[in-house]
Formats: sequence, structure tokens, C-alpha cells
Amino acid sequence: MYKPTHFNGLTRIISALLISITSFSSALKQPSYLPHHNATRSFWLYPPSTNPLGEAGSTGELTSSADVCIIGSGITGIGAAWHLTNQLVSQSVETKKKIAVLDAREFCSGATGRNGGHLTPTLFYAFRDRERAYGTDEAQRSYRIEQHTANSLLDFIRTNNLESEVDLFEGGHLSVFRTAEEAAGAKADWEATRKAGVDMGGADGDGGVRWFGIEDLVENYGFNPELNYTAAWFSGHNLWPCKVVTKLFEDAQKQASADVVLHTKTPVTTISKLDDERSGLHTPRGEIACEYVIHATNAYAGHLLPFLRGQTPDIDYTVGQIPLSLRPRGAFGIVPTRGQVGAVRASVDAQALKWNNSWDGGAGWEYWFPRYQDVESHAGRRPLIILGGGRQHSGGNLEQEVTDDSVLNERVDKALKSLLPRFFPQQFKHEDAEQAWEMQWTGIMGFTNTGEPFVGPVKTLAQSPNLSAKNPYEGQYIAAGFTGHGMTRAFACAEVVAGMIIAKIRGEEWAAPEWLPRRYLTWATAP
Ligand SMILES: *[C@@H]1O[C@H](CO)[C@@H](O)[C@H](O)[C@H]1NC(C)=O
Ligand SMILES: *[C@@H]1O[C@H](CO)[C@@H](O)[C@H](O)[C@H]1NC(C)=O
Ligand SMILES: *[C@@H]1O[C@H](CO)[C@@H](O)[C@H](O)[C@H]1NC(C)=O
Ligand SMILES: *[C@@H]1O[C@H](CO)[C@@H](O)[C@H](O)[C@H]1NC(C)=O
Repeated sequence: MYKPTHFNGLTRIISALLISITSFSSALKQPSYLPHHNATRSFWLYPPSTNPLGEAGSTGELTSSADVCIIGSGITGIGAAWHLTNQLVSQSVETKKKIAVLDAREFCSGATGRNGGHLTPTLFYAFRDRERAYGTDEAQRSYRIEQHTANSLLDFIRTNNLESEVDLFEGGHLSVFRTAEEAAGAKADWEATRKAGVDMGGADGDGGVRWFGIEDLVENYGFNPELNYTAAWFSGHNLWPCKVVTKLFEDAQKQASADVVLHTKTPVTTISKLDDERSGLHTPRGEIACEYVIHATNAYAGHLLPFLRGQTPDIDYTVGQIPLSLRPRGAFGIVPTRGQVGAVRASVDAQALKWNNSWDGGAGWEYWFPRYQDVESHAGRRPLIILGGGRQHSGGNLEQEVTDDSVLNERVDKALKSLLPRFFPQQFKHEDAEQAWEMQWTGIMGFTNTGEPFVGPVKTLAQSPNLSAKNPYEGQYIAAGFTGHGMTRAFACAEVVAGMIIAKIRGEEWAAPEWLPRRYLTWATAP
């Protein structure tokens, strides 16, 4: 939902990470790790007709067994179901499998249903830092996976002619720089990315990036000249995330390779090892026996995998005894982090707004884009802007270790409401700020200390170098910890765990896709 630091998918991963590391020491009180029962109303999930699967399978008989059980019905969980059904059918004749998807709340009601709606891959941001830290190949994969994710989703949408159903909009994207240093750093990253031969898209592989000065921003976008900001333009999309995930689920259900069932409002409370070595998922409605389990629970992963609760590890590491690089990555966990997003009307009509692209930056961590669909279908309506971020104004712990998305943070509310009138004083009047805000909601992201998700078997994530051979997590996989940057990574990470399970089913060796950063894997020891 937010920028790396926020639900949207653009991001300042590195700085977000440093912040989350420093906060570990202050973590004493454990938040609840199950989703809150009374979440704020998100634009993307309201009215209920926008989420037809909202309460699907929440009553009646519970499935008693499945080949693959997926916990979480966001883009990761449904993405995994989609990849499983599509890969199984396309590769060989196999016995029909059963896939059960469970969610503690309504369908798609976690971060996927609460984010900023951006589908804009990071093209070059932080390339030089990543190249220094991980080497050129691994740095390149950081960007390739985002392009792969966006392209796979766009392929799915276009192949099935779903553009208008999922509100796909290609408006481009502008990253705003507040200082000359920020702009120079971005330009240096862009040049380093080109030099490394990464195809950023566009005719020349340079992403079609254009650099704008303050005059361009004032003239073409109505930007406040007093701010003296600059910006980089590149291509990007927006869409309605829950609608895409709904279509992915429907498509998975159509495949002949598997029966896919959905049980919403069915929290998994514990997982145990059954006598026949399968995993038993316990829920208030009964138990499901599963050959394979996928944890697609992102911020909430620590509920079923307590060693992932974003704090100091439950294994007794004395700092200095085991080098950082040898600690299992799970030792640092996933920190639930609350983001806030709203929907606000412009003070002017579409003609006078002047821009169609999404934005990030400027004040630091905000991201926004206009929705014209609403204007086209209702003559005379002003464009609606979806705007999120502002965690840096939240006070306290930057909304970390917070899983309560039933309330708003008032300080973030103030910060969000003041942003557009400051940036675009002609298009958003200060005096309109209160009444122009039609909705505001929160959602919970899952931060890891490196900003990279955990992807792969749970066992390798949990094992310390000294754990006994008996593995309590056999058959369990995870793709979680997207650090506010899930829209352009989660669907591909779901493809990876689906591929691992299919390889297991077929008794084949799993091979990593070329675009996958190896450091995402649960068994990676670096960084
Ligand atoms: C749920 O949230 C709404 C709006 O914040 C509030 O009015 C209502 O009392 C809450 N319900 C419960 C059961 O907590
Ligand atoms: C505006 O920013 C540029 C650098 O981006 C700087 O050279 C210039 O002095 C600034 N102008 C003002 C009025 O601050
Ligand atoms: C933005 O897109 C809408 C809908 O496609 C269009 O009507 C409008 O003219 C566009 N505005 C600009 C400034 O390109
Ligand atoms: C791991 O086990 C080895 C061998 O028993 C022991 O020497 C080492 O201290 C152990 N490390 C930790 C962190 O417990």
C-alpha cells in the first residue's frame, strides 16, 4: 500500500529499514498478531459490491483436507493459488489437486485492499547502494523482479480484457525531489542502472525517464513555485488492487488442474504436525489437514510463526558471537507497521487539475494519484485523489508494532490533509481540506530489517545453526515481509513459492528464476 515505507510500491527502502532497525530495541509490548476485527473502511473495499468475494465461504462446512492450504487472501495468497493452478495445468497431466485459501477477515482485507493502488516498478532508486552491498547481478535483480511483477499482472489484465473492470490507468509517475542533492542522487542512480545494462523499459531501455525543473512543474502541473522542487517522470500504472485479486481468484477457479476453495473469516489459530506428517490447520470452525502450507500473511506472519514477531530473536544470540551474516534471516522478524491512506476531491475539475500521473516524494514519504474513472462516469464530478503516507508525522514509533487498523492516527491525518494544498495551492484549497476528504483508512504493512521479503520454505528461515534435525515446519512455505512495497513484488514472490511446491510435487529440482534476488530466499544468509 505504501511507499517502500508505505503501501504503494515506490520506496525509500533503505532509509525505512534503518528506521525499523533502530526501533527493535524499544520493542517490549507485543501487539496482537491477528488482524483486527473492526478495520477502518477502505476505499478499495467499499461499497461491498466492489468486493463480491468478501465473505465467501465464511459459513457452512469447512474443507477438511487440501493438497495446498494458503493462509491469506491478498495478492500474495491469491497470486500463489493462481500460479499453482496455471502452472499445474500448463505443464503436464496430473491428478487434480485441491487448494484451500483461508483468511482471518474478509477477502483481500489486509494491505492489498488498503494500499495506494500504484503499480509502478522502482526503476533505479538506490541502485548504487545495492550494487555496493550485493554486487551488480543481485542489484539488477532488485529491479528485474519489479518489472516482472508489473508485466505479469499487466499481461493477465490485458489478455483477459480486464482493463476497465480493474480500473487500469497508465498515467505515468513523477518522483519529486526536495533538494538538489536528492535530484543528483537519483540521476546518478539512473545513470549507474543504465551503465549496468538493466533494461528499464522504454524505447532505449532507459525507462523513458524525463527530468523536470521547477518551471516545468509550475507550468505543466500547477506546482507551488515557492517550493522550488524538481522531479523525474517515468512510466507507471494504477489500478484497483482488490478487483485484480478477485479476477485472479476467479481465473484460478476456472482451471482444470485444481479445485480452489475459499474460506473467509476463518482465522488459523495454530498449526500442528499430524500423525501422517501433514500439517493440521486449526480454526474456530474445525481443522484442515494440508500437505503443503503457504503463509501469505505478511504483517501478521508472527501470529503462526512466533519467531517472526519483529523483535529480538527467540534464539539466544549474543551479539558478537554469531556474525550477522550467519544468523537465519528470520531472527529479525517482520514488524507490523501501520500506514494511512485517504481519498480527497480536488477543488477544480479534471481540465484544471492538469495531471494524470501518480506522484511520490516531496514531503518525504507520501504518494498519490488521481482517479478519473469516477469523473468520467459522473459528469461534473471533480477528480478524486488517493493519497497516503505521512508516517514520519505520526509521533512515537513511526507506527511500528501496530496491528490496529480500526482507527486513524490524528497526526498523520493532519499531515495528509495539508499536503496537497501546499503542493498545488490552485487545485486544492486549504479551506476545502476538511470536507473534500471523503474517506480515510489504515492498513498494516510488514517490515523486515533489510526491506526484502522472506520467500521459501519456513524451515530454513527458522533454523539456527544448532537446531535439531527434526523440523517442525516441514511442508510450510512463506512469502511475506514486503515492507510497504508489495504491489510490485508480492505476485512474483507468490510465483516462486508456487514453483517450489510444484517441484516438490513432481519430485523435481527447483531452479531459481533469473529475475529473483537470491537474498529474498529464506535460506539466504546474506545480507
Ligand atoms: C467499529 O468501528 C466503528 C467505526 O470506527 C465504530 O463506530 C464501532 O463502534 C466499532 N465496532 C466495534 C464492535 O468495535
Ligand atoms: C532552487 O533550487 C535550485 C537547485 O535545484 C537552486 O540552485 C536554486 O538556488 C534554488 N532557488 C531558490 C530561490 O531557492
Ligand atoms: C487525464 O485523463 C482523462 C481521462 O482519460 C482525460 O479526460 C484528461 O484529459 C487527461 N488530462 C490530462 C491533463 O492529460
Ligand atoms: C552450536 O553447537 C556447537 C557444537 O555443539 C557449539 O560449539 C556452539 O557453541 C553452538 N552455538 C550456539 C550459538 O549455541
